[in-house]
Amino acid sequence: MEADIRNILIISSKEYLPLYKKLLGSGDKLGLEIDYLIQEEPLGIAHAILIGSSFLQDSPATLILGDNLFFGENLNQKLTKSNLNFNRSTIFSYEVKDPNRYGVVSYDSENKVIDIEEKPTNPKSNAAVTGLYFYDENVVEKAKMLNPSERGELEITDLNNIYIKEGLMDVEQMGPGSAWFDTGTFESLHEASAFIRSMQSRQLLKIGCPEETAWRKNWINDEELYKLALPTIKSGYGSYLLSLLGK
Ligand code: G1P
Repeated sequence: MEADIRNILIISSKEYLPLYKKLLGSGDKLGLEIDYLIQEEPLGIAHAILIGSSFLQDSPATLILGDNLFFGENLNQKLTKSNLNFNRSTIFSYEVKDPNRYGVVSYDSENKVIDIEEKPTNPKSNAAVTGLYFYDENVVEKAKMLNPSERGELEITDLNNIYIKEGLMDVEQMGPGSAWFDTGTFESLHEASAFIRSMQSRQLLKIGCPEETAWRKNWINDEELYKLALPTIKSGYGSYLLSLLGK
């Protein structure tokens, strides 16, 4: 939403997809169009591109992993810029202490990107690849070229390496002023929620509030925001939405 994307496809397992549907519906309440597709088996992140091929219909695509959390000043400008850069693809790297948990960027002596290694034992840098990917219109064709890895998945890293090899990928650094969490472990999920909690209790804002984003972008009006606020007033979330309306 921050990158002005309003046509969204959510891909999840048979078990969890109905929960997303129940929560978000068609998306119209947020000024969005949301479609849903099941990934029957965990065949990899790049496999999701193939699942979504009829949704994408040869248009550029942005992919974000559901367990990734991003926060940062000016992040929305960066996202909008990458989204409008139709002829190239963009990924974002973030300096971490434990790169071997992620895809890791290798650079040559002139700081040019050589490739990405998926969860390397001896990482060549600390630059982890985050789970946010902006691709050009050829992404489905390129995903079709992939073969399953040793763990039986179509790897997003293999797809990104095709773009790097062809000189069509920009690797942007997410600076120290931004925060990125992959919440795939209990520890990291807890870290992320502690971060959000402390940011939200120090400032008069909510992080990742889709109703607010839709309203600020004029995709929904005051009355629609008011209606969205009513069911969650008791939890404090709805009262925050009402406060945006000065109520
Ligand atoms: C995936 C990607 C990895 C990337 C990470 C970001 O890893 O394979 O390259 O760095 O997401 O969250 P996974 O979380 O599937 O292990």
